[in-house]
Amino acid sequence: MNTLDVIGQFDRYVIGNYKRLPVVITRGEGSRMWDMDGKEYLDMFPGWAVSGLGHCHPKVVEAIRRQAGELIHIDNTFYNAQQGRLAELLSEKSFGGKCFFCNSGAEANEAAIKLARLAGDGKRYKIITMERSFHGRTFATMTATGQAKTHAGFHPLVPGFTYVPFGDFDAVDRASDDETIAVMLEPVQGEGGVNVPSGEYIRSLRELCDAKKMLLIFDEVQTGMGRTGKWFGHQHFDVTPDIMTLAKAIGGGVSLGAIVARPEVAAYMVPGKHASTFGGNPLACAAGVAVFEAIEEGNLLENARQMGEYFRVKFDAMKEKYRLIKEVRQLGLMIGVELTVPGDSIVTKALEKGLRINCTQQTVLRLTPSMTITTSEADQAMAILDQVFTEYEADLARETQENSDGPN
Ligand SMILES: Cc1ncc(COP(=O)(O)O)c(C=O)c1O
Repeated sequence: MNTLDVIGQFDRYVIGNYKRLPVVITRGEGSRMWDMDGKEYLDMFPGWAVSGLGHCHPKVVEAIRRQAGELIHIDNTFYNAQQGRLAELLSEKSFGGKCFFCNSGAEANEAAIKLARLAGDGKRYKIITMERSFHGRTFATMTATGQAKTHAGFHPLVPGFTYVPFGDFDAVDRASDDETIAVMLEPVQGEGGVNVPSGEYIRSLRELCDAKKMLLIFDEVQTGMGRTGKWFGHQHFDVTPDIMTLAKAIGGGVSLGAIVARPEVAAYMVPGKHASTFGGNPLACAAGVAVFEAIEEGNLLENARQMGEYFRVKFDAMKEKYRLIKEVRQLGLMIGVELTVPGDSIVTKALEKGLRINCTQQTVLRLTPSMTITTSEADQAMAILDQVFTEYEADLARETQENSDGPN
């Protein structure tokens, strides 16, 4: 089998719902991965922000191996020690809540939405979410997502969701009425373009939710588990939510999602109201516990903060150098570089040179480097990006020149 064989197999047998890059990845280690032909890539967007510790972190690999030999799955009819320990860690590192486990970000948000409706007791059911948010692809989480492109083709949507501009406190105040049970947002919008709100906005939302007895739900699927330099994104703003949702990096690469809810809110989720067959299985939870241990033992929160600063300085310098960079937005190792031009061709050029990055909202390059990244890996990534920008600007200048040299 070679790359073309695999792509051919996909063409015949896999539904074409993803825009894929023409590369077959076979191995990963830390911030690096390799394709079928042995080509090496620096991965600055590992697993769409899933591999927060980089690929195949040794502690996670060891925990999975150990757990797989003992018990891979046991249903929630029984207790299992790994689920209990992971819940304890999540609760202790956040705001002392209780956990429910599932397998993905959409499922975690779905659970939060259902829990909010339960707390609304049939009288309050409306949820305010943000424009440019992203909460998942199930029906309720897709509806919660404040982007028309995500809704297209699926109407009628789930009733009860209202969208307001991210960062506009008054809009939330105006949109909430006595049927509103919750306000739901990402502490930093990821897919929406790496949009970092002010602390004042987040704190005002908390006060508003308290005053109007609404629940504040933070979707920490992308901001969670240390990437921003704190365990959870909301900890930058000194505000605690009523419900927090998690997935992506918490399983170290294994499918794992969770919600953490204040005990009084969690109490609404009684037997029969919600469940997940795979949720909280020992294999995924053992991986989750290993992620916590790896972050603590490796002092990786500190590394995320330091390397976030390192990237900030580098990107600031790059912004001065290239006119095509409009703005750089960042919290720790969650980095968005807004361009004045579409970013797809930059992503492709970077990949050709062995650098993997992402582009969202057409013009925002997104990087979520691993918390284990070193300065030399960061330098290498920035050197490739520098080359790509230089070539892009040279191509642009040449095209402009050719057009001005045209027949008229
Ligand atoms: C903030 C946020 N919430 C939810 C999701 C959905 O997660 P999943 O794809 O695991 O369902 C994502 C995925 O990108 C996300 O970034």
